[in-house]
Amino acid sequence: MELAINKTGLEGQIEVPSDKSISHRSIMFGAIAQGKTTIKNFLRGDDCLSTLKAFQDLGVKIEDDGTTIIVHGTGFSGIKQAKQAIDVGNSGTTIRLIMGILAGRPFATELFGDHSIAKRPMNRVMLPINQMGATCSGHDGTEFPPLTVCGTEQLQPIHYQMPVASAQVKSAILFAALQAQGESTIIEKERTRDHTEDMIRQFGGEITVSGKEIRIKGPQKLTGQEVYVPGDISSAAFFLVAGLIIPNSKITLTNVGLNPTRTGILDVIEQMGGKLTIQETGNKQNKAGTITVETSTLKGIEISGEIIPRLIDELPIIALLATQAQGKTIIRDAEELKVKETNRIDAVANELAKMGANIEPTEDGLIIHGKTNLHEAQVTSYGDHRIGMMLQIAALLVKSGTVELEKAEAISVSYPAFFEDLNKLYQ
Ligand code: S3P
Repeated sequence: MELAINKTGLEGQIEVPSDKSISHRSIMFGAIAQGKTTIKNFLRGDDCLSTLKAFQDLGVKIEDDGTTIIVHGTGFSGIKQAKQAIDVGNSGTTIRLIMGILAGRPFATELFGDHSIAKRPMNRVMLPINQMGATCSGHDGTEFPPLTVCGTEQLQPIHYQMPVASAQVKSAILFAALQAQGESTIIEKERTRDHTEDMIRQFGGEITVSGKEIRIKGPQKLTGQEVYVPGDISSAAFFLVAGLIIPNSKITLTNVGLNPTRTGILDVIEQMGGKLTIQETGNKQNKAGTITVETSTLKGIEISGEIIPRLIDELPIIALLATQAQGKTIIRDAEELKVKETNRIDAVANELAKMGANIEPTEDGLIIHGKTNLHEAQVTSYGDHRIGMMLQIAALLVKSGTVELEKAEAISVSYPAFFEDLNKLYQ
């Protein structure tokens, strides 16, 4: 598709789409809880719809009138053997979190997805849940999907020091631990997004978190709840950056979820000298706010260490931001980017370099020298939604010619109305 180029003066207000991580979990918690869960503001992106369909395949009654989703949960025992293999599409969150739920169910399930899913590492989930008593195996003796998960009702608790900083892995272990007999302990490598812990509490469960150590007793029964899904800061990120780098712009984003395990990008913008104001609108449990950004003069910084999991999904768009900052930006400790929907270190470096950026991939991140002018090019999303959206924001800076994006359709994974929302900003 041909992308919009050469824009200035972006102005207006956008209500960002609902949070992807929380939307997935709202269906999962609704399914394993007893009673009715009502979900408002669910994200109708391809990934979350894969989760909805997967739980219907697993025998859970889920109603959807187009506005509200109602999940009729009957506890873990309401998760029944599917009649066919479950298709998770492009969704790593769906496949990894479901594995933790299926670990405690006494039957076999086959899970598969698209080309990208077939390359995502799964030992990180299979090893701990197999240690708890499940039997999972990948395709042809590898760790890759299609996978088979054989669960057991006799799951053992686990004491697990996580080798990777991953909320998906942590969440899968927590779902298994909720079904195990006894207390499990998980020690995180770095603190990662804590929506699963929050929702265990919201659904009436008990969990103790102290720094990087999490304790949880099983078995536990959860109770259906009303869930309102806030906006996704990972989707807001594309317009935050657009507002900062496109000349004469001022953009306001409403209903942005501000869970502190997700707000690393706001810290980065402040450190780079970006003009940003936040007005908090949510409550203590569900922090949310209205964020306004304006075109700014930016400077390069170093991004590494414990902030990385707090902005892991935003690194492609942060790399673009760095191409428009004066001086050098170094991103380190982000080797996890290599195993996302695509290898995001290579994808970001290749595609932005085609457009004229001075950007170098490293073993665990990127080095970017700014500020550079970007020019026309033929680019690809590699089928990765966040690479596609980043490239459209980059194209807005291109003065002439055409920017052609291959595999633009991937964007509907997390932000189906992305192009419509962008259009609103240049009237
Ligand atoms: C997610 C966790 C992160 C993130 C992904 C969503 C989640 O993945 O990149 O987009 O909802 O738990 P990892 O757990 O692999 O870091």
